Formats: sequence, C-alpha cells, structure tokens
Amino acid sequence: MTALTDTLREKVSSVPCGDFTPLLLIPLLLILTILYHRTRNAHVPRYPDPFGLMFIYGAKKAADRKDVPFWFASLFDRYGETFVIPSILGKTSYATMAPENIKTFLSTSFNSWALGKLREQAFEPLLGKGIFTQDGGEWSHSRKLLRPQFQRRELEGLGSIHEHIGKMVELIPDGEVVDMQPLVYRLTLDTATEFLFGETAGSLDSTDKATNGQGFADAFNTAQSYIVWRFRVGKILNTLFHSSEGEDAIRRCHSYVDQYIFRNTQKPLSQSGRYVFLDSLKSEETDPFKLRCQSLHVLLAGRDTTAGTLGWTFMLLAQHPQVWKKLKLACEVLPKEPGFSELKDIPYLRHVIAEVLRLYPSVPSNGRVATQDTILPHPAPGIKVKKGEFVRYSPMAMQRRKDIWGEDADEFRPERWEEEGLMQRVGSWGYLPFNGGPRVCLGQQFALMEASAVVQAVVRSFEGVEYCGGEMHVVEPALTMAPAASVVRFWGKREVEK
Ligand code: HEM
Repeated sequence: MTALTDTLREKVSSVPCGDFTPLLLIPLLLILTILYHRTRNAHVPRYPDPFGLMFIYGAKKAADRKDVPFWFASLFDRYGETFVIPSILGKTSYATMAPENIKTFLSTSFNSWALGKLREQAFEPLLGKGIFTQDGGEWSHSRKLLRPQFQRRELEGLGSIHEHIGKMVELIPDGEVVDMQPLVYRLTLDTATEFLFGETAGSLDSTDKATNGQGFADAFNTAQSYIVWRFRVGKILNTLFHSSEGEDAIRRCHSYVDQYIFRNTQKPLSQSGRYVFLDSLKSEETDPFKLRCQSLHVLLAGRDTTAGTLGWTFMLLAQHPQVWKKLKLACEVLPKEPGFSELKDIPYLRHVIAEVLRLYPSVPSNGRVATQDTILPHPAPGIKVKKGEFVRYSPMAMQRRKDIWGEDADEFRPERWEEEGLMQRVGSWGYLPFNGGPRVCLGQQFALMEASAVVQAVVRSFEGVEYCGGEMHVVEPALTMAPAASVVRFWGKREVEK
C-alpha cells in the first residue's frame, strides 16, 4: 500500500502543467492514504475523524476553556484505553492510559523512545538545554551531574524550609477569603532559590510587587504559556511566528536567574556548611550559560510542581471537612518543626498527599516519540509503531480508572490508601505522579518532604477551612498543572508558639 501511494505521489508531481489528470488523482491519493492508515493496526480503536482535524479543533476549544488535561483525559472514556489519532497533516499518533504501554516506553524499551525534537525546540528559548529537554547521551550527562546534588539535598533534610513556611502561615489571614495559589508560589520560589543559589528570593518578606519575586513569577508564567503555545502549534508555525510579550518574558526570566548566578560565581564556595546546589554544580560546570540552563530546569521542577500540588491540596481539604479534621488530629502529635522521618511516620498525611497527586498529578499528560520501529503491547496482539510516531499518555486518566481504583475513582478519599491489596490491584505502573523508569523524578523525596511540612503546618495553625471558589478544572497553560486559583477561607488561627 505504501509503495502504491508513493507511486501516485510521484505521478502527481511529474505531470506537466495544463494537464488536469493529476487533480483527479488527488482524491484517490487521499482515499488510499485513509485506507492505508485504517489497515495498519486495524484492531486498535481510533479517534473517529480520519484526518485528525477534529482532534486539533477539540484541543483548541479545550485550550480556550483552559482545561486541556481534563479534556484529554475524558477522551479515554469515549475511545478506549488506547486509541489511534489519525492525521492527514502529520504523522499518526497514539493515546494511551494502559500501564503496560507506559511501562514499555518508560522502562522496558526505554532506548526505543525519546522526548523528541519538538519538545527541545519549543522549550529551548526559555529553558535552554537541560535535563527536561535532552535525550540520549546529553540527558545521561545531565542526570549524572544532577543526581548527586539531589541525594545530598535529601540528606540535608528540611533546613530553613520551616522558616519560610512560618512566614507564609503568618500571611494567611484569619477568617478572610484568600487565594492560596500566589502564596504557595511565593513559598516555593523562596525555598527553590535558597536551595539553588544559596540566597532566597525573599518573596514572602515583602508585599512590594517590584521586589517580592512577583515580577519574576509573572514573567515565568507568561514565558511558560508562550512555550506551551510553541509546543502545541508545532515546528513550522512556531518558527514563523513569535510573540514579543513571550520573548520579553523570557528575557526577564533569564536576567533574574543570571543575577543570582553572577553573584554566586563571584564568591568562594559557601562556608556555611549548608548545601547549595550551584556551589556543588559549579565544581563540575563553569560555563555561566550552562549553569543558567540547568538552574532554570531545576527551578521549574522545584517551584511549579510543588506549588501546584499544594494549591490542589488546600482546595480539596476545604471541600472535605472530615479529611481536614482527621488530618489535624493525626498531625497534632508532631513537634513544632518536624523532620522528614517524623513526617513520614504520619500515614494519614502521606495518604492525603498521595491522593492529591492521584487526582491532580503535576504532569497530567506527557509524550514520547519512537526512535525506531517498535511495538507497544496494548491492545493485544500489540501496536506496530513506526519511527517518528508520537504516543501521548495520561497519568491523570490512568489514575482515575474505575476498573482499577473502584467506582469512586473520581472522589478525593485518602482512606483508599489504607485498603489492603490496593497496590497489588494498581501495580507499580498504575500510579505514576513522579514518572517511572530511568527518567523518574529526581526531586520526589524532596517534594514530598516539602509538601508534607507545609500541609501539616497550615492544618495545625487553623481550626478549619472552607472552600470559596476557584474552578477545579481550570488551569493556566504551563508546563506543569496548577489550579488557576485556590480560593479558601481559614478560620480559628492559633497563636504562633515562640
Ligand atoms: C509534587 C512535586 C513533583 C512532581 C509531581 C514531579 C513530577 C515529575 C515528573 C512526572 C517528571 C517526569 C517528566 C517527564 O518525563 O517529562 C519529573 C522529572 C523531574 N523532576 Fe520532578 N516532580 C516534582 C517535584 C520536583 C522537585 C521539587 C524537583 C527538584 C527540586 C524535581 C526535579 C525533577 C527533575 C530534575 C526531573 C527530570 C528527570 C529526568 O528527566 O531524568 N521534581 N518530575
């Protein structure tokens, strides 16, 4: 069939102008292309539009409503666990929420898959080359460079994080409506900059937007929307069209990070004995441009993911007063500034965060490109994927599957984590908020530690909380998923123990 369509394509291009016969061949070529795609992997369910244009239209509408991850997850209810997305303009792609497929491209056939050039090309103007965009040898190099830094960070424990959390709690008003999302972004910016550069942005110290890191936060959000747009429209359009607002935001992000790098590289290694990521990194890497790129990648990983998780947590706790009460009781036994092992010893705190990440994983959908012809196992007898074809996967849809998690899979119920046999049912590839295989998240332990410390501090500082709005399914376009707003009202503030 491929040979036939190729021959027809050649005929169309070789006939002289003025002869209209080739025009008649065009519909034939389209029909043959459709038939060819239909006969490939014919046992796999497919998106019902043979040209894939409705899929693009659906994605565009979802982007306008700001609910792309939820729209994408909803497609699996209609078209099945794995389905083909035909395309007349580009290559056929696939969508899956089958754990056996995800395990294949993230782990067992890791070398047959990559993040792909489109991701690198779309993200590079903001992030430069770094661990989130690299493949193959370059990625291995970055991973080897960064891994020990994270191991050292974990050993260090919570350090000054409690101090930043205390400042954030002080800023939460008693009995008044508050949007927690900007506050948790300020917190994670302060902790991430301290960890990365050895000096905090201090955004929780000041209400002056010019100096409190809000300028950087706004620029970082605008720059991310721009690169998400670049990724969605594809290589040709994003090379042709540029947004001056997006590019200006990128410049502002670079100069913000460069000032830290400049100051850090001017001074000798920190004598404080405290761990500083950049101190450690600069003993391996001295080029300021490369230092900026690696730092921006880790800043994105450290600030946005944890802030999103905290935003969802407060909204969900506000909607589930019985969970709040139980969590408050469980956390009362903790000392004022608990360490990681003490936090880990509170199972209900762990279960609340695991449940938030099940329903609202920071990376709700993701994708991989085949680097050679290869096979995905689901549905049996397998899908033949050609080199260059793209597979989208949705951890969020997988983590809400009723056949795995039960009829109440869409409900926030931390108690499910106490059920015996849950993990046998789910399997190690059915729950992946931190990804799996060789590219598993490097900051997982650090993120869980920070999120637990924040949640317990807030829960212990207030008697109760109520939900005051903020749409659960509205998310700003960004590289990770966070609620557009997390609007709640805390009440019954405790006096801070001195
Ligand atoms: C709740 C918090 C977090 C979640 C849910 C999360 C989730 C993830 C996911 C899903 C990936 C894979 C991305 C991909 O394959 O495209 C990833 C990678 C990564 N994460 Fe996290 N992350 C979190 C926090 C953090 C933090 C705080 C840091 C660092 C301070 C971090 C550092 C990294 C790094 C360096 C990678 C790249 C690993 C690689 O490609 O080899 N993460 N994370």
